Order: sequence, then structure tokens, then C-alpha cells
Amino acid sequence: DDQGWRIEIKKYPLLTSVGAWRPADKSDLESIKLIPSSDGSSMLYGGYYTQDDIREVVTYAAARYVTVVPEIEMPGHSTAALAAYPQFSCTGGPFRIGALWGVFKDVYCPGKEETFTFIENVLDEVCELFPGPYVHVGGDECPKDRWRNCSDCKKRIQENGLKDENELQSYFIKRVEKYLETKHHRLVGWNEILQGGLAPDATVMSWQGISGGRTAASQGHDVIMSPESNCYFDHTADVGSNPKGSSAFLFVSTVPLNKVYAFEPTPADLTPEQAKHILGAQGNLWTERIPTQDRLDYMAFPRAIALAECLWTSHRGDFPDFASRLVRHFNCLDLNGVKYYDDPLAHAIFIGQWRPADQLSKQPTDVDFLITPHLLGPGNYAVRFEFLEGKDQIDINSVVLLENGKELMRDAHPGFSGPKSQANSYVLCIAELKPGATYTARASIMAKKSSDTKGEVFLLRTPSETKSIDAKSTTDRRD
Ligand code: ACM
Ligand code: ZN
Repeated sequence: DDQGWRIEIKKYPLLTSVGAWRPADKSDLESIKLIPSSDGSSMLYGGYYTQDDIREVVTYAAARYVTVVPEIEMPGHSTAALAAYPQFSCTGGPFRIGALWGVFKDVYCPGKEETFTFIENVLDEVCELFPGPYVHVGGDECPKDRWRNCSDCKKRIQENGLKDENELQSYFIKRVEKYLETKHHRLVGWNEILQGGLAPDATVMSWQGISGGRTAASQGHDVIMSPESNCYFDHTADVGSNPKGSSAFLFVSTVPLNKVYAFEPTPADLTPEQAKHILGAQGNLWTERIPTQDRLDYMAFPRAIALAECLWTSHRGDFPDFASRLVRHFNCLDLNGVKYYDDPLAHAIFIGQWRPADQLSKQPTDVDFLITPHLLGPGNYAVRFEFLEGKDQIDINSVVLLENGKELMRDAHPGFSGPKSQANSYVLCIAELKPGATYTARASIMAKKSSDTKGEVFLLRTPSETKSIDAKSTTDRRD
């Protein structure tokens, strides 16, 4: 990737001696490995797997029935390689290894034969290390700017009768696929490899939503679904789970536990024959900003458990059912020292939902949720609105706590829950529970744009309450 080359390649030692190290920035301070640069002037961040390391990982995984699939990014996201070997770019460089997120314009030059020789030599060693069947070649987010202004690229386009730079990318991927086939490996690429036409046997990994995957499956290609909206575990589960003061970890969108659990990898409009091409899904946890094992555990669990149940069971229950069973997973993770995120949603009570069929009004409308049976004592509770799918959001104006129809308090801040969510939790404080009284949470909500929105509403106990109640419910379930 742009931020570092992570695997030893014997034929090209600069890939790791140069390409695996970049200047350390603020958010690397807690990171795994920092070494002085050769002139001693700054600290470097990085590291890589030796070929022996790779063999060890592959063997360990295979003994547990797991296949490791390497991803070697091309033609974009390649500045780490190009910093080491700039001759395989359009301009010749020089280049710096990416220190921040992003999409970089300097990419491999498919106009030069030497570029393909380099990639084939790299893949020779990769295929030797990974028995297969798959090699992922990335293919995502490749800007075409340099290709447009490169005489070698223009010549390649002309000589091969290609229409444009998208077809040049397709030429690149198809050529790499052919080479991988000679090594008895199959190519996987992100959905951008659809641009300019798919390589004949390519498997598509759909990250920008599921539509690329749907298109590929309808063309008879195998597909792995991995949409950012449901499957990216480098996005936090909720805004509350970001480490304090750590801007490097922040994303605008979250991937909540219930949304992972609701994921359906097979689009309903595929024919049974096309649906067979949906191999499953992948959860992504990019680790460039994951400095420790504990942080990795925290991001991966329990969401990985939710995704596994989506993909590996044919009798999936609803989210409250899943949440009620999570406590056993938590016990197991505790025993194994896994520092998972103790997600409040796992302890939450499902109290309602919104659906397109509700035809939510464009004007503020009151919706009541009966919460009496869920109040186990006085304390602070929260009503949280969690979007699942659709184009639009609901806006929430307030949530009022009613006791026998009489207002006790209200949380009247503006919040919304949709493809992006903000301030979507409303706090209710209950000082005293009157025996026999009826308690209702009355939400004022509206769908300003359209009713193409679907989500779930939960009642959460806030931390001070969570402890005693959790301990109780855990005991109940064990009994
Ligand atoms: C990706 O997240 N760019 C595949
Ligand atoms: Zn070029």
C-alpha cells in the first residue's frame, strides 16, 4: 500500500529497506516500532514480514483451516513501492512514502514493459509463499492523471486499440490475471476492476456498497461483499468508543454492531444462479492506525462475531436474540484475554424500529415506546436510534419521559440517524420508579427528505446502572 511495503521480496530488497519505513507522525507515537532514520535526524515508523515470517503465518493458519490471502496493491496505492523503485512510474519520481490516509496520483506505469516484469517477479515470490488459490491485487482508487500525460501510456493505449485510461486499467488487470493463472492462482480485486471491463476469471470484492458486487455476479463472476457501511471494522462501533484526544482514529461514519448483524451479502434481486457467485463477505480492519494488539481486539470484537453469524449460519435470529447470546462469547473472550469492546448495544433492549412502510412524516411526529417492563430501578437510561439501511436519515428533535402520561423530563437536543449519525442517544433520568406506573419514551422524529430509511431503537442503561443489571442478567442466563 502507499504507507508501507510489508513483505520481503528477495529480488527487490529496496522494497523493504526503503519502502517499509516512513517518517513517524504524532499518531505513531504509541505504535509498534519506531527506529532512527539512517542519518539520525528523525524517527521512522514501519516494519515488514520476512519470508520466514510469512511461511510461519501461513502454516499456523492452515493448521486451523484458515487460508491467508495476500493483497499486493496495483496499479494504485503503490507509492511505497515507487519510493523504492521510481522507474516503474510514469514520471520517474522521486516519491515519498505516504504518511497520511489518502489516494495518491503517482501509480505504476502500465506503458512500460519493465513495470510488468517487476510485478511478475514480485508475484513469483508471492505465489511461492501463499499456496493459494487467491492473490488479491487491490485495483482500487487508481487515479488516471499520470497515465493521461505519459507518452508510454498513450502508446500502450494506441497500440492495443484501447478506448481510454479505464480500458488501460482493465488491460493492466487482465494481463496480471493471465500471469497469475500461469502460477495456478486466481485474481481478486476491489470493485474498481470493473472499470473498463472485468478480467475473465476475476473475483470482485465490493467495498463501495454492494452494487459493484451485484453487477459482477450478474456477469457470472465470483464476489466477496465488503461494503464500508457494514463491514469496515476500522470505523468505530459508535462515537463513544473513540479513544479520547486521538484524531487519527476518527471517522465521520460509524459501523454499529446491529448494522453488522443486519448485513445481508446476497442481493435479493439476483437469480439463484447469480446468487451462487456471492461467496460471502469480508470484514476489513486496516491496521495502519491500530498501534496495539489490544486496540485491534477492541475494533474486531464483538463485530467479527456478528459478521460470522451472518455468514456462517442459515438460521440467523434477530439482533436482540444475538445480543442475548453474546454474553457467552464475552465470557470466552475474557478467558482468552481478548480486549473486546464491551458494546452498550450488546446489553441494550430493543424497543422499536422505523421502516420505509411507516411513511414517516416530513413534519415532527410523536412516536411512543413503552419502556415500563425494561426499567429495573431508578437511574439513567438512554434511548438510541441506530440506522440500518436506506438513502436517508431520520431527524430526532427530542425524547420525553412520561409517567402515566405526564412529562417527567425531556432531552431536547437535535440529533440524526442515517448513513451518517450524530448525537443519536437521548438520556432519560429516573429518580424513582412508582409501583404500577406506566413509563413511556415519546420521541419527536421526522424524515425530512424521504421515508427511504430503516433502523432500530434501543433502550440502554448508562454505565453506573449497567454493572448491577448485567451481573444479574448474566446470572439469570447461566441459570
Ligand atoms: C478500500 O478500502 N480502498 C478498498
Ligand atoms: Zn505511464
